[in-house]
Parts: sequence; C-alpha cells; structure tokens
Amino acid sequence: TDASGGGGAMAGQRVVITAGPTREPIDPVRYISNYSSGKMGYALAGAARDAGARVTLISGPVSLAVPAGVDVRSVQTAEEMLQASSEAVDEGADIFIATAAVADYRPESRAGQKMKKSQEELSLSLVRNPDTLATIAARSDAPFSVGFAAETNDVEHYATDKMKRKRLAMVVANDVSTPGLGFNSDQNAVTVFWPGGQRTIGPAPKTDIARELVELISERMADQS
Ligand code: CTP
Ligand code: CA
Repeated sequence: TDASGGGGAMAGQRVVITAGPTREPIDPVRYISNYSSGKMGYALAGAARDAGARVTLISGPVSLAVPAGVDVRSVQTAEEMLQASSEAVDEGADIFIATAAVADYRPESRAGQKMKKSQEELSLSLVRNPDTLATIAARSDAPFSVGFAAETNDVEHYATDKMKRKRLAMVVANDVSTPGLGFNSDQNAVTVFWPGGQRTIGPAPKTDIARELVELISERMADQS
C-alpha cells in the first residue's frame, strides 16, 4: 500500500464506510445501543486512506481518534446513519463498506421529558429501523457493497444468506462467540465470502485485518470488471 495516494490498491477510489453503534433515544437521558467500539471501521478507514482512497466515515458515537485525512460525519441514530450514508453516496462512491452495528429497532416514540419510575413493570414498544446497507446496495448506482456479519452460530449460513438478501459483492463474517475477538477487542478473525469464493484472515490485530481486507476488496473489484 502507498500512503502518498499515488499507486495504492485503492488509488483514486471513493470509499464510504459506516462504523460504530447507533443510539436510539428513549427519553432525553436514555437510549438503546450496543457494545460496538467502532475499531474495525476506523481501522478500515485508515487502511483505505493508506491505499490511496478518498474516505468518508459515517460514524456512530465512539471514543476513537479521527483518522487523519478522513472525512468523518457523526450520527447518533440508525435513521441518521441512513440519511448521512445516502448523502455521501449521492456525492459519488465506488465502494461502500458497512461495519456499523446498527440498532435493529428503535423506541416507537421518544418521551419529551425524563420518564419517572411510577410503575412496577414497564414495556417499551419498538419499531424496525431502516437498513442502511440494503438500501445503498439496492440503488441502481450501487457502489461495490461490502457487509459485515457478526454471528454466534451457523456463521457461513447466516453470512452468505445476508450477502444474497442484501445483494452484496462481499460479506465479512465474524464469529463473535470466540472470547477476545470481535466486539470491543483489538484482535479479530474473519472469513470473507463472495459469490464463488472465500478467504479467512486472522486472528490478527484489527489494523492488519483491515489492510488485508482493502487488498481483497481491490482484487475482487478488479476481477469483476
Ligand atoms: N446493517 C445496516 N443497517 C441496519 C442493519 C444492518 O447497514 N439497520 C448492516 C451492518 O452494518 C452489517 C450488515 O448490515 O454490515 C449486517 O448486519 P447484521 O446486524 O449482521 O444483519 P441484520 O440484517 O440486521 O440481521 P440480524 O441482526 O437479524 O442477524
Ligand atoms: Ca442486526
């Protein structure tokens, strides 16, 4: 790879990456979210930049340093993530990589004031969130779209099923049942699937995985065209 942006594997490519969790508000002081650290997405943003790409990072709330030279757009909710991603792809994108751990559901309504604990039991009504990756991949001008699939069981089955349903060029499967890998860890091991092939990368630091993923994405794109 080439930090000068001259002859890197992604030289001149426009890459949009989602990263981190989303937060779905319940009331002014509470939300629903998950344990995503954003590390994999931020590492990919850095690796794509090092390979010569122009990178836009659509980021949920994380505590990570902004990678130098990357255009970061901060969002909170899944709806904001779809909006910001659609705008970024409207501006022109060759590659879309969805690493974000998007909350699948949000509270049906957000209380205007802090909820008080009047009752002994409480039920929250949740509604489905929009799917950013599926929406982007279904566009007529869809970029080369890469999804992530964090699974605890039947990894290949669920991951390749997501690839087909969301019309992805590639899916990066992550077995999150292994302690010390994946969510919130610095280490990861992934198996990448595409129509007609697969490759396992790691266990290795997320920065190494990111560099190899960038190489593989470039290879697969070259193979397609
Ligand atoms: N994704 C997305 N928007 C959503 C949900 C998921 O962009 N609302 C993206 C993720 O960033 C990831 C891929 O879709 O790249 C798969 O996410 P995952 O949660 O594994 O799949 P789901 O389709 O939500 O299915 P489930 O959670 O039921 O396994
Ligand atoms: Ca999900």
